[in-house]
Amino acid sequence: MESLEDIIATHAEREGPLLPILHAIQARFGEVSENSIRTVAKALNLTRAEVHGVVSFYHDFHEVADPRPVLKLCRSEACQARGVEALAAGLPDDHRVKVETIYCLGLCSVGPNAMAAGKVHARLDRAKLAALMESLA
Ligand code: FES
Repeated sequence: MESLEDIIATHAEREGPLLPILHAIQARFGEVSENSIRTVAKALNLTRAEVHGVVSFYHDFHEVADPRPVLKLCRSEACQARGVEALAAGLPDDHRVKVETIYCLGLCSVGPNAMAAGKVHARLDRAKLAALMESLA
């Protein structure tokens, strides 16, 4: 298993290493904890506030792990034109699945779209979205 120190060492010499390191930490640990923030800041000669600012800015980073499955619903323009806002407003009140917003999955002509468990789900309607959320829960 790759440690925090291994992750930092793998990316430290890259140009702009902060985001790759944070993504790798998020993927490995499911969170970017306060300890990780401080360790990365020290390793990259940044302040804790600079690293924390990046972690809190991007929705992909979580300071505390959330074990729920994630459904990323595209709410960009083409999916909006195909009705995603009505779908979002009628989402089932199911707290077993974490719903996040994403902006474009590259399949604009077959929206509304969402991504879950590494797969894109196209042409969503209320029934398909509810079934998808149930399958994830
Ligand atoms: S706008 Fe939704 S996939 Fe492009």
